[in-house]
Amino acid sequence: VTPDQVRQVVAAAVRAPSVHNTQPWSFDVESDVVGVRADRSRQLIAQDPEGRELLLSCGAAAFHAWLAVRGLGRSADLAWLPEPGDADLVARVTAGGREAPDDSVRRLLAAVPLRHTDRSAFAAEPVSDEVVGTLRAAAEREGAWLLAAVGPDQEVLVDVLASRADALLQSDDAVRHELAGLVSPRGVPAEGLPYGALPEHGWGRGSSLPLRDFSPAATSGPIVTEPPVAEHPLLLVLGTPDDTPADWLRAGAALARVLLLATAEGLVANPQTAVLEVPALRARLREELGLAGRPQMLLRAGWPTGPGSPHTGRRDLADVLTERSST
Ligand SMILES: Cc1cc2nc3c(=O)[nH]c(=O)nc-3n(C[C@H](O)[C@H](O)[C@H](O)COP(=O)(O)O)c2cc1C
Repeated sequence: VTPDQVRQVVAAAVRAPSVHNTQPWSFDVESDVVGVRADRSRQLIAQDPEGRELLLSCGAAAFHAWLAVRGLGRSADLAWLPEPGDADLVARVTAGGREAPDDSVRRLLAAVPLRHTDRSAFAAEPVSDEVVGTLRAAAEREGAWLLAAVGPDQEVLVDVLASRADALLQSDDAVRHELAGLVSPRGVPAEGLPYGALPEHGWGRGSSLPLRDFSPAATSGPIVTEPPVAEHPLLLVLGTPDDTPADWLRAGAALARVLLLATAEGLVANPQTAVLEVPALRARLREELGLAGRPQMLLRAGWPTGPGSPHTGRRDLADVLTERSST
């Protein structure tokens, strides 16, 4: 892998979604091997004390790196936690012999620069069962599962749990402080969330699933006189058989694959993790939906109505990439 190709691979990796755009990763590259390291200094201690969401984010970046190596026309092997003594080396992507990228790789790779979290209201058209089936298969390829919460019973259940989670987190000073530190009032910052990417609150938005409120001090959005059309996003729960660090990494890879495929299909999506950050509510979600494993992520997805939320920034490659010579 040449130095230019290394930069291409890492540039694709950092476009991965990460919890509130914390980008908790770094990359160590030596000839044909890309090591993905967790950067624990970027962990959100109040919201993510176990580092579950940090590893989901790293798993997503590792999947993007794997995809980009395949895009170079090489075979690629993705190994999770390859060194038992080094818990922060979370993944290793090794480029092998020549292997032309297939259509699926090409499609997902083309979606990398287009994918972004969209918190704006979605169109009313439902997402077909056929599309949901392809997303489910994408999650399963990475060792995870995906379940659509359908019908009023399940939709109301998710709504109630997600709303309760948001209210509980909003009443926790440490979480509020952490969230406030992640939002930039102007411009597109290199990390964290630009104000324009956040959902509108107050009277401006009707939805069957409320979105996390990032601005508790300024809840009153612009008051609109026309009542908004309530959206009914597709609600997807992504999960894994167990709840180990390896499961969290696989869930991140599955999340990345599902989001890229959704983008390729023309869908937009928004990960929602508040309900998974409150252990009692996470357990309720699991029990009430009769889930066989552990839920790792809630996603709202749907068809876009406009340009959607702006893209978020990324740190410079120089800040996250270390290239080692193999001699
Ligand atoms: C583990 C994880 C948790 C996330 N949780 C939320 C969330 O609760 N609410 C939300 O609006 N976005 C959430 N996101 C989306 C991130 O904010 C988003 O990926 C990040 O800001 C980068 O922006 P992009 O996805 O547009 O590239 C989450 C993403 C990940 C990977």
